[in-house]
Amino acid sequence: MTIERDGLLTAAPASPAETALEQAVRPRRLADYIGQPRLREQLEVFITAARRRGEPLDHVLVHGPPGLGKTTLAHIIAGELDAGLRQTAGPVLERAGDLAALLTNLQPGDVLFIDEIHRLAPAIEEILYPAMEDGQLDIVIGEGPSARSIKLDLPPFTLVAATTRAGLLTAPLRDRFGIVQRLDYYAVTELTDIVARTAAIVGVPVDAAGAAEIARRARGTPRIANRLLRRVRDFAEVRGDGHIDLPMARQSMDLLQVDAEGCDDMDRRYLACLADRFGGGPVGLEALAASLAEDKGTLEEVLEPYLIQQGFVARTARGRVASAKTFKYLGLPPATDLFAG
Ligand code: ADE
Repeated sequence: MTIERDGLLTAAPASPAETALEQAVRPRRLADYIGQPRLREQLEVFITAARRRGEPLDHVLVHGPPGLGKTTLAHIIAGELDAGLRQTAGPVLERAGDLAALLTNLQPGDVLFIDEIHRLAPAIEEILYPAMEDGQLDIVIGEGPSARSIKLDLPPFTLVAATTRAGLLTAPLRDRFGIVQRLDYYAVTELTDIVARTAAIVGVPVDAAGAAEIARRARGTPRIANRLLRRVRDFAEVRGDGHIDLPMARQSMDLLQVDAEGCDDMDRRYLACLADRFGGGPVGLEALAASLAEDKGTLEEVLEPYLIQQGFVARTARGRVASAKTFKYLGLPPATDLFAG
């Protein structure tokens, strides 16, 4: 299943250049991390406690929509623990040996980051259980009658796992994380600070109103805020004097067709389909996906979370329904408020 989405507002990294920029501006310490105050405070306590006791931090599961900083948190946790970071992803680990090699190469105290943990093959997941619980690697070597199982002691380590789909994790895996944290969409004020911070690091002149306007249209997502900043900077350099103020930010994002609600063409198509073609719903995800000629997973994981969070759409047992806000946004006469029922 792909969760890629064309266009500016996709929360997946768009290019090597963007990944490089993300790395350059990524906060390295909890103190530099903006937003998610509850999570920050809790992690600070857990990390300090583990350090004082000289123990590895409990395994951490971070879940939430893409682009909110799950990888960043893994880096910060390793940084705060003064530990090495090994990084991999669920779909990359194809064979048991891939994970075994990673685990046996860890240094004591290392952080192992597994992104997209929900895409781990079941056979590999089973190797993780004893590794997480008892610090042991149980592997079978050989085949048939000569196969034998060996146990190896692993160095103490902390697994930091990230997923956009916590609901897809099996219960035994989920239960082995001592710390489970959810990342929420960022407030506009927090994103404004993130835009200002990134701009200062890369040397883009942006004033407070310009940064706030970029933040407002960034769907609560730092990765999108930083991407919009890059695009607006292009406009400011070509059409202006390079400085980003409110009119420059507005003009650029209007041209980019990212509107004041942070919605792009794809969101508007989705909302129009739901509100207009299906009369506001309830309509099943399959029917919506077919009607839009889009992948179900993309709608569910990439498009809908923000629209739901903004109160445009609700998921109900009978299907998706549009809110009064959606009808107003599209300039359609209000339907009966389906949210009520
Ligand atoms: N860049 C991306 N996400 C960030 C965050 N949460 N805090 C600071 N800078 C960031």
